[in-house]
Amino acid sequence: RIYSDSEKASKAVAHEIASLIRERAKEKKPAVLGLATGSSPKKVYQELIRMHKEEGLSFKNVITFNLDEYYPMQPDAIQSYVRFMKEQLFDHVDIPLNNINIPDGTLPIEKIPEFCKDYDEKIEKLGGLDFQLLGIGRNGHIGFNEPGSLINSKTRLMTLDISTKIDAAIDFGGLEKVHKKAITMGVEKIMHAKRVILLAWGEHKAESVARAVEGPVTSDIPASYLQQHNNATFILDETAAAAL
Ligand code: GLP
Repeated sequence: RIYSDSEKASKAVAHEIASLIRERAKEKKPAVLGLATGSSPKKVYQELIRMHKEEGLSFKNVITFNLDEYYPMQPDAIQSYVRFMKEQLFDHVDIPLNNINIPDGTLPIEKIPEFCKDYDEKIEKLGGLDFQLLGIGRNGHIGFNEPGSLINSKTRLMTLDISTKIDAAIDFGGLEKVHKKAITMGVEKIMHAKRVILLAWGEHKAESVARAVEGPVTSDIPASYLQQHNNATFILDETAAAAL
């Protein structure tokens, strides 16, 4: 779906998420949301905060699982996705703290496999994700599932691709300072989500969007797996759609 600008598009996405939250609340059930970081979802979160403040949208029944976190990473560090989520959404809505799940960048390395297994099991026990919000990397990654990630990949520690590190260099104050690894939700849980929305804005995303949507389904472009999802939508502005 192509919008004239990211503002209109983000509002539409926020409204879809809000309807899901309200529907699930009516059924007295949790809304299980997979959330993303990066610049792409910021306006979606802003609109959700506005709806919370002005329209009484409650997050009491919302359970969230974030896609990823750099490793190692302290939650209060400037590049931390824990910090990002607090600043961009969680600190401004009434979500119970226990309902928030984000990969833990502070774990000793030997504890990571167990943490990742528990992360996937927690999602499964809730019946999977009701909704997954995604961005896309210039190399076609989703979360930090870099090229080469398999369709059934689990939550795990990933070595970051060079293009990902180049894009993150500005946040870390130089390429050599970018952390080499991250914990990411696997492709499997993303593919099992009942609804997936991928956001992409700007001409720097046009090529990876075109390869993901129109190219072959391949581990070289993990976002291309979404062609095989039965309820996934790419929400684009005109510049991100330019190569389609
Ligand atoms: C990072 C994140 C991804 C995100 C991507 C795009 O690599 N791990 O989840 O989708 O960047 O970021 P942006 O939305 O800032 O373009």
